Amino acid sequence: MDIRFQAGGSSHWKADVVLSFVFEGEHAETACSSLVECAPWLGIAPAWRDFRGNKGESVMFYGPQAMDVSRVLGIGLGKPEKADMTGFRYAVGRALRLCREYNLETVGMDGTSLSRVAEKLGVGLDALVREAVISAFLGLYRYERWMSEKSGHSDPRWLAVMLEGEYVDDSVRSAARMAEAEASGLMLARDAVNDPANVMTPSAFAEKARTVAAKYDMNFRVLGPSELEAEGMNAYLAVARGSAEEPRMAVVEYAPKGTEGLEPVVLVGKGLCFDSGGISLKPAKGMEDMKGDMSGAAAVLGVMEALGRLAPSLAPKRPVVGIMACAENMPGGHATRPGDIVVAKNGKSVEIVNTDAEGRLVLADALCWAQEQYRPFRLLDIATLTGACAVALGLGAAGLFSVDEELGAALHEAGTLLGERNWRLPLWTSTSLEALKSPCADMVNSGPREGGAIHAAVFLQQFIGEGVAWAHIDMAAADTGESPINAKGATGFGVRTLLSAVWEKEETVLQ
Ligand code: BES
Ligand code: MN
Ligand code: ZN
Repeated sequence: MDIRFQAGGSSHWKADVVLSFVFEGEHAETACSSLVECAPWLGIAPAWRDFRGNKGESVMFYGPQAMDVSRVLGIGLGKPEKADMTGFRYAVGRALRLCREYNLETVGMDGTSLSRVAEKLGVGLDALVREAVISAFLGLYRYERWMSEKSGHSDPRWLAVMLEGEYVDDSVRSAARMAEAEASGLMLARDAVNDPANVMTPSAFAEKARTVAAKYDMNFRVLGPSELEAEGMNAYLAVARGSAEEPRMAVVEYAPKGTEGLEPVVLVGKGLCFDSGGISLKPAKGMEDMKGDMSGAAAVLGVMEALGRLAPSLAPKRPVVGIMACAENMPGGHATRPGDIVVAKNGKSVEIVNTDAEGRLVLADALCWAQEQYRPFRLLDIATLTGACAVALGLGAAGLFSVDEELGAALHEAGTLLGERNWRLPLWTSTSLEALKSPCADMVNSGPREGGAIHAAVFLQQFIGEGVAWAHIDMAAADTGESPINAKGATGFGVRTLLSAVWEKEETVLQ
């Protein structure tokens, strides 16, 4: 679906359908006043009798077929004082799904109604357009790769933002471009997570990363078993040993012109293409969901895709490195046993008491490698790390850990604004280290259930150097979902939050 603009007021607007957003209790005439020139019939359309603007309501208004605009889809947003961005996103997602259902090929969005919504939500028109465009793509997203019977309806050809003014503001134009890039990253992440583990193996993931890098002329590196061994990444290797699939650590380096030599923002994603638990085998129920244990790595690749789409006109002021630590955790004959001890890259020994606490082992070495290679300006990791995080915060939210106040606050705010909810959790280092004491090694890899997300974060912290601006995002409860902007399955969570961390403050596009 292309994103377009139609400026110059409603006499210049033309599409199979125009979406108009209406709050409950708003005067009908106000709500559709801007459409009078392209749809003069709208004022007397009979369907007004039943359209209230309630939340979740949508009503199609029909006019004479020969008009430039012969359909208007009225979309209710509910009471203005209760309206929020999530409700708006869902309304857009629902609307685009309906347009597809009706086989409407070209869709417009009434900019006047968008301006009203922006004002009520306290954001600029550019920010709202960004959310509208992303939600349109996400609403339409579906994963049908394996369905022998595909849905017969195809996506609209284009979506136009229809504006009153003669010209399209640069800020609105770049907000739409940003949205297209983000949506592209989100959908790439969703596809990777939705793909089953027999297809999206560590090697296949690495090849996908290579393809993204090649497409945007970014540098690509990959470490297989022998490279990981040469680097002393024994904790990482311990996880992969029980699987017939070789581990792959894929690295995509993006250095926009003029940033060469600067310290990069480094993103590290957990890429467990399947997590059976290993010898500490998981129960059968729900184990299929563990194909999504590479959601962190998928989010990182989604960020690289989005950055590639934005280049060269919008580029971060520093290089960005995406590290995707892929492996499969299986209970094969060479699998790590509970009680095995490994020495990680930084020399710390770990007694692996539970082979299902594998994400932290992979990440520990990947984080060490990242710091050695790049001296990161910022170091972020994202992982489906602990079920305990889901217990703590509920489904749909991520745990955010950082002792760097500025970074922690920025990531929390970004996640909140972008619809990727996170909540800050503490790094109670000495308490967790006590809980992770081993009688025979520097640490065990798994502590008590209580506070499990914190123990995991503190475990990772042991592999972070002094003074490194590091944040850890535990997205175990946010990798899958279902909503009007999320076909049941992968969410793509993390792409937008991580992307926010690559911009310097003054570059931030949102608001
Ligand atoms: N990948 C899981 C965490 C997970 C659970 C993600 C549910 C998504 C949904 C992780 O590797 C794991 O197994 N964690 C264990 C840690 C425990 C053994 C300390 C857990 O949460 O049970
Ligand atoms: Mn596990
Ligand atoms: Zn896992």
